[in-house]
Amino acid sequence: MTAPSPGAALGPAGRAKIAVMPNPLTPELKNHVKSTHLAALRFRRAIKSFDPARRLDPADFDFIAEAARLAPSSNGLEPWNIIVLASGELRAKFVERTGANAAQAGQASHLVAFTAKTARGIDPSGDYLAHIGATVHSMSPEQIEAWRGRFKAFLTNRIGVWGSDDAMFGYTARQAYLALENMIVAAAAIEVDSCPLEGLDYAQATAVLAEAGLIDPALDAFAVAAVFGYRSEDPKRPQARRPIGEVVAWA
Ligand SMILES: Cc1cc2nc3c(=O)[nH]c(=O)nc-3n(C[C@H](O)[C@H](O)[C@H](O)COP(=O)(O)O)c2cc1C
Repeated sequence: MTAPSPGAALGPAGRAKIAVMPNPLTPELKNHVKSTHLAALRFRRAIKSFDPARRLDPADFDFIAEAARLAPSSNGLEPWNIIVLASGELRAKFVERTGANAAQAGQASHLVAFTAKTARGIDPSGDYLAHIGATVHSMSPEQIEAWRGRFKAFLTNRIGVWGSDDAMFGYTARQAYLALENMIVAAAAIEVDSCPLEGLDYAQATAVLAEAGLIDPALDAFAVAAVFGYRSEDPKRPQARRPIGEVVAWA
C-alpha cells in the first residue's frame, strides 16, 4: 500500500491510482470502505438549521466541488453549472426573493445554485455542444457535426424530449441533480452537513442570477440549490427509509 500524496484525491487519478488503495482491494479494505461509505450516508441528513459561525475550510469546499465536476452526465455534455453565492449581498437577495428557508440558505457556510441548460442552451445545433465536443472530448469539427445529428436523434427518438422546452430542461436538470448528489455524498464523507433545496421560487431564482449577470436566461436556468456547512442541531427524527426488500426487486 502506498502512502497518500497531499491532494491526490483532487488529481486526475484513474482507478489504478486511487490514492491509498490497492487495486484490487483486499477483502479487509473492501469491508472498511463499505462501512465508512455507509457511515457517511447515514451521517448525511437534510439539515434544517445551520451554525452561522462555522465556515467550511476552503480546501474542503474544493473537494466537494471536485466531486461535482466528476459527476456522470448524459452524452458527456455536463449541461449544468454551479454558482457559489459567496457575496453576502447577492445571497441575501437570492434568499429573500426566492423565499428560501433562511435558517438553511441564509446561515449555512455555502449556498450553491445549480443551473442547467435550457432547450436553447442545449440545442444540438448550438455553440455549447461544439464547445464540449472540442474542449472536453477533443473532437474535430467533422466529428462535432456528426455528433449534432446523433444527439438530436437521441433527444427525439430515444428519450422523446425534443420539441418540449420543459422536457428538454428536465433532461438537463436531471444531470445537475447527479452533481448535487455527488456533492452531498462527498460532503458527508468529511462530516460536512448539507441540504438540497428545491423549495423555493424557481422563476425568481433564475431572475436573480440573470440580473447579477451570472447567466443568460435564454441559455441557462436555475435547476436546484444546496447548502453546505455545519448543523446547529441534530435532526428531530431518525433517518427513515423503506426496507431493502421493498426497494430492490429481482426479476
Ligand atoms: C431534490 C431534493 C430537494 C429537496 N428540497 C428540500 C428543501 O427545499 N428543503 C428541505 O428542508 N429539504 C429538502 N430536501 C430534503 C428532503 O426533504 C430529505 O432528504 C428527506 O426528507 C429525507 O431526509 P434525510 O435526507 O434527512 O434522510 C430535498 C431533498 C431532495 C433530494
